[in-house]
Amino acid sequence: MPDTSSTRLGDRPLVPRPVHAEQGTSEGLTLTAATRVAADAESRGTLAWLQRELGASTGLPLPVRDGDGDGTLIRLSVDPDAGLAPEGYRLTVDTGEAVIVGHDPAGAFYGAQTLRQLLPAAAYRSAPLTGVEWTLPAVRVTDAPRFRWRGVMLDVARHFMPKREVLRFIDLLAAHKLNVLHLHLTDDQGWRVEIRRYPRLTEVGSWRAESQVGAAAPPVFDGRPHGGFYTRDDIREIVAHAAARHVTVVPEVDVPGHSRAAIHAYPELGESGEIPVWTRWGISGDVLAVTDHVLEFYKNVFDELVELFPSTYVHVGGDECPKGQWKTSESAQRRIREEGLGDEDGLQSWFIRQLDAHLTARGRRLVGWDEILEGGLADGATVMSWRGEEGGVAAARAGHDVVMTPTATSYLDYKQSEDPDEPVPVGTPLRTEDVYLADPVPGGLTEEEGRRVLGAQVNVWTEHIDTPRRLDYMVFPRAAAFAEQVWSSGERDYAEFEPRLVHHLERLEAAGVEYRPLDGPPPWHTRPGVRGR
Ligand code: ACM
Repeated sequence: MPDTSSTRLGDRPLVPRPVHAEQGTSEGLTLTAATRVAADAESRGTLAWLQRELGASTGLPLPVRDGDGDGTLIRLSVDPDAGLAPEGYRLTVDTGEAVIVGHDPAGAFYGAQTLRQLLPAAAYRSAPLTGVEWTLPAVRVTDAPRFRWRGVMLDVARHFMPKREVLRFIDLLAAHKLNVLHLHLTDDQGWRVEIRRYPRLTEVGSWRAESQVGAAAPPVFDGRPHGGFYTRDDIREIVAHAAARHVTVVPEVDVPGHSRAAIHAYPELGESGEIPVWTRWGISGDVLAVTDHVLEFYKNVFDELVELFPSTYVHVGGDECPKGQWKTSESAQRRIREEGLGDEDGLQSWFIRQLDAHLTARGRRLVGWDEILEGGLADGATVMSWRGEEGGVAAARAGHDVVMTPTATSYLDYKQSEDPDEPVPVGTPLRTEDVYLADPVPGGLTEEEGRRVLGAQVNVWTEHIDTPRRLDYMVFPRAAAFAEQVWSSGERDYAEFEPRLVHHLERLEAAGVEYRPLDGPPPWHTRPGVRGR
């Protein structure tokens, strides 16, 4: 059991809560111009990060120790034999020294993130304020995550987020010890990743003529073009920036539904001829044809993704594919007959299986939304359970890995309260408290089945999130509560968490995050006249 009484650490509470923290009896450590740093080879990446981040916020030089030297010291190392769990660390702050030992390089990094939380909140600024004393309380923290998949999905298809915002988003995930950024790169409303072989995907598929505003019926439009995409170099930069913070970027190209932007660029991919990139929200009936040409096209697309993204997991979507067009499509019906697939669900399943085999042959693993269960699950597939927990339960029982992301507790596009002033309120209310109290492992699984749960993820769908400001408002502080759901072990009590969260908000404020205040939306975050659903 975690020692919750001692994790408050005065005004430096840790979020997410560590496995164990105990306050020492010494005075602790104050960083000064005389403070030196040291690291072994395996923690040198974290050292560079720490020097850059704390160097900026404190204005201290934090040079690497040369010989024995004088002055206080921050020392980092990796030791797989230190009795720590994967991604775990031990951090000891005492007079004269702060020592971080990671089980692995990720553990050393998380120890350094904890060290930053032990400093005043101004440690999250990018230039020093005068008059701040950079004190660290004497403490001994031993920590490791409960789950290995601690994810956030960002939908950059509905609204494009500039690269610099994605980089900043990664910094914020890492600050919360989250380690997967799932990028939803394609949808009916836009294609956001450059594919060398098929340039029209971004030339014409990356922008739309206008956008629906809110969820009113009949729809209201803004009359303003929207677009953007990441070049291959942008992607390489995002992936490397994430890797340096122990975040894996999982790419998603959504098939065979949610594909209008691709069909607009290459009409032979679809069943409906020329169609515009979609300007409204919802589920489109225009889906991919299941021809050899389409299969070849997407294998080539996934080959380029595999080149750009080192992630073991590659997401193929698979959600919300209406089967109407396939019922009357000559090529779809022929494929169903020739392959003995039974029906259109069997056809979708067949299509996903082809991609599964293709990715597996390249040493990767396919992950898809829980609709990939319908018509039979591909051999190596991992299931992302979003329509409740049922898909996750069924997949775990069938011996497949699962990531839990049920709408009711994981959809950060859902409104944060019943307050009518919440901006474009959609979905069921999902309060910070609800995210905090959710448990990733569905009830009713055996221990063995429960081990199939790799972890959990929150999803940020962006139909109604059109700017970085709004992104901050919808994601924080719910992502901080989520971090505790997936990182921390033991009982969770919101009354214990909330005071820590209040302190944690000072860090977000220092980092310039426009989080939703706990008491509701400020006037500038309301959207008068824009209808929700
Ligand atoms: C989804 O929300 N369509 C996965």
